[in-house]
Amino acid sequence: MPFAVVLILLVVGSLLFHFLSPWNFTELASNWEMVDLTIDITFVVTGFVFVVVNLFMAYCVIKYRYKKGAKANYEPENKKLEYWLTGVTSILIAAMLTPGLFVWAKFVDVPADAHIVEAVGQQWHWTYRYPGEDGKLGEVDAERISQENPFGIDPEDPNGQDDVVVYNAEGHIPIDRPVKFLLRSKDVLHNFTVAQFRVKMDLVPGMNTFMWLTPTRTGRFELLCEELCGVGHFAMRGAIVVDEQEDFDSWLAAQPTFSELMSRPAGNAVVGAAQYAPCAACHGTQGAGNLDLNAPKLAGQSDWYLKRQLMNYKTGLRGTHEKDMFGRQMTAMVMTLVNEAAVDNVVAYINTLPDSPVLSTIDGDIERGQDIYAVCAYCHGRDGMGVQATNAPRLAGLSDWYMKRQLQNWKDGVRGSHKKDYYGYQMGLFSQTLNDEQAINDILAYINTL
Ligand code: CUA
Repeated sequence: MPFAVVLILLVVGSLLFHFLSPWNFTELASNWEMVDLTIDITFVVTGFVFVVVNLFMAYCVIKYRYKKGAKANYEPENKKLEYWLTGVTSILIAAMLTPGLFVWAKFVDVPADAHIVEAVGQQWHWTYRYPGEDGKLGEVDAERISQENPFGIDPEDPNGQDDVVVYNAEGHIPIDRPVKFLLRSKDVLHNFTVAQFRVKMDLVPGMNTFMWLTPTRTGRFELLCEELCGVGHFAMRGAIVVDEQEDFDSWLAAQPTFSELMSRPAGNAVVGAAQYAPCAACHGTQGAGNLDLNAPKLAGQSDWYLKRQLMNYKTGLRGTHEKDMFGRQMTAMVMTLVNEAAVDNVVAYINTLPDSPVLSTIDGDIERGQDIYAVCAYCHGRDGMGVQATNAPRLAGLSDWYMKRQLQNWKDGVRGSHKKDYYGYQMGLFSQTLNDEQAINDILAYINTL
């Protein structure tokens, strides 16, 4: 009897949970209401069977429970019952599977007027490529992927010259136009998922996969990787922004093309020397850093990282949090660099400064730090020298007190909380794995040995 009660409560509880739970689908933002319908049908069929089977079981437990002297009736064959069960089961299974076939047929039949966006996945980032005026993407080859050419575009291919390359985790698409996403992975399996679009697809190394949709709602939708792809899988996030056509056009026009990227002039260190003068006041003439002035060492830091941070300060992605006192100071100083070319110049100058060793200011358990650092090493490198391909700057030989403050800022959401600062945000997620100040000290004590 208690067993029957538990079964009945299970059914009632499940139904209540289903209808009263606050966890519903996110609001649809694409043409794929068919997917929702299919899921609803599956819910109804499996829900119906779940309720019927469990209630029948409870009924039997109660009705046929042990009674003294009662005798079971042996009935091995019941043709009529078998016909019924086979028939009803077949209909329910067909009802559950057939809608999926219609969805799939539509999913693989991409509308002829769909425009193309390529999304490229790597551990643990998203980047995008759009065809230029010619509507064609240039040929790519994994062997050509380099720091200068992160997409591996064939420089000889005329179709590739005007390809728009977006080296950022945020891609844009225009509303109400079918879009075909071409999906490519640089390393392992990933999966391109925007919950509001309802459709998703794997990225398979060595293969091009695709999916299509027509966005029906403007907004910014979080892009998740839904294939376990290594320790940073949980932090592999991005966004797809659905714009009105004119907003999309102006956004796209502001992104560099492949040929523009390849022919961008290098920074001029001679000009940069003059621009460095205000920086020298805190960071020192040799860029060695100054703890008393809270200015970290710059000499020896990766140039692409310095540039990105300076641009982040300029565009408000960093140094705007009210509790980020030193960051706000820096934001004011960065305004002396009037444009991107000025940033390039000053970074080129910093690149020429001697990389002299720093004094370590932090004590910790080096062995424990080494264990924790194993995760950091995936992106920053075992030697802590930074890896541009994973957007991870150099750590070794730089100001430990500065890294400590930044780790704490990330943990507290003071840094990396701007929704467009993807790499900062990602680092914020990783910083949550450091439980306490001791863990931070240990890790920095180990980095100091590198
Ligand atoms: Cu990429 Cu998970």
